[in-house]
Amino acid sequence: MADTVLVTGGAGYVGSHIVVELANAGYSPLIIDNFATSLPSMLPRLRRVTDRTIPCVVGDVRDLAVIKRLFAEHSITAVIHCAGLKSVGEGEQKPVAYYDNNVGGAIALVEAMADANVKRLIFSSSAAVYGQPDRNPVTEDAPLRPASVYGRTKRTVEQMLEDVSSSDAGWSIGLLRYFNPAGAHPSAQIGEAPSGTPNNLVPMLAQVAAASAPEIAVCGDDWDTPDGTGVRDYVHVMDLAVGHVAAMQYLARVPGSTTLNLGSGRGHSVLEVVAAFERACGKPIARRAAPRRPGDVASCYADPSRAQDVLGWRAARDLDAICADAWRWQTNRHR
Ligand SMILES: NC(=O)c1ccc[n+]([C@@H]2O[C@H](COP(=O)([O-])OP(=O)(O)OC[C@H]3O[C@@H](n4cnc5c(N)ncnc54)[C@H](O)[C@@H]3O)[C@@H](O)[C@H]2O)c1
Repeated sequence: MADTVLVTGGAGYVGSHIVVELANAGYSPLIIDNFATSLPSMLPRLRRVTDRTIPCVVGDVRDLAVIKRLFAEHSITAVIHCAGLKSVGEGEQKPVAYYDNNVGGAIALVEAMADANVKRLIFSSSAAVYGQPDRNPVTEDAPLRPASVYGRTKRTVEQMLEDVSSSDAGWSIGLLRYFNPAGAHPSAQIGEAPSGTPNNLVPMLAQVAAASAPEIAVCGDDWDTPDGTGVRDYVHVMDLAVGHVAAMQYLARVPGSTTLNLGSGRGHSVLEVVAAFERACGKPIARRAAPRRPGDVASCYADPSRAQDVLGWRAARDLDAICADAWRWQTNRHR
């Protein structure tokens, strides 16, 4: 029988793509989501992409009773913990809500997992744990100095999971530090669907190109980077999903805690991404200069060589593929 993998936040952007790749790889994904930042309409979309019904429990990972019941009722072999709040700006405004959801959710989940003796876990961490790195590309051993509340919640959970792993050799834990996930499934059935104003560059560009927003705000054009705009590492969400399947297979063999960057290894400035999106959609994109956002950094891109060595994984899709898939999703998502 196929291994059942619980994907918390599986109706969200990254989680939904992971669900598809898990199904493709022969796993049985099971979702828990409270739809805080996603929509139930993701479920029929997942059915269309995977050609099967993906079970979903509507609930909150912080609700220990719900999570414990989930483990009692399903024979879950591993968990991918994507559920969380991810807006850097919102985290600065609502720190307690961010600690409650991101740290509280992980504590409840680990407690329920230990209780059910399920000890294989992948955690959706973030390059935000590095803050502004001393040098790029950034390796996993770089100093951890998160510059935002969001990044500190991620680092706090990482630390807890490292402690869990040291306390009990039965655990296999992957701390996967995503750089900037972007793009969409090539079917254009699933993609990033932020509620309200998006916080991430590529969905913002998609909205402007679709005339649902007038222009993009370039937040900071005086950073210490070649063109003054922030440099980030954009990794296609499908590559990210493939990386999770590789990590799942690795963790089935290797105990302990493993920390890996999942990034493309290439840094692109905001203006380079705007140009790539203009190529993808075939129209000019209006922009205006705006102040830096609290918690942002000048430049951050990955050294992904450890993931290549450990998992045999590397990002296969480039920035043009990311923009083409994001645009296809934008123009087809309301079908
Ligand atoms: N997208 C990025 O830029 C990025 C970068 C680095 C790390 N991450 C991390 O990856 C994970 C997934 O991000 P995403 O981009 O898919 O975000 P998302 O908002 O699209 O998905 C998060 C999902 O978790 C659910 N959720 C939130 N709190 C929950 C709770 N307490 N109980 C149950 N469900 C809950 C939401 O409803 C949503 O479906 C997050 O942990 C995020 O911090 C994302």
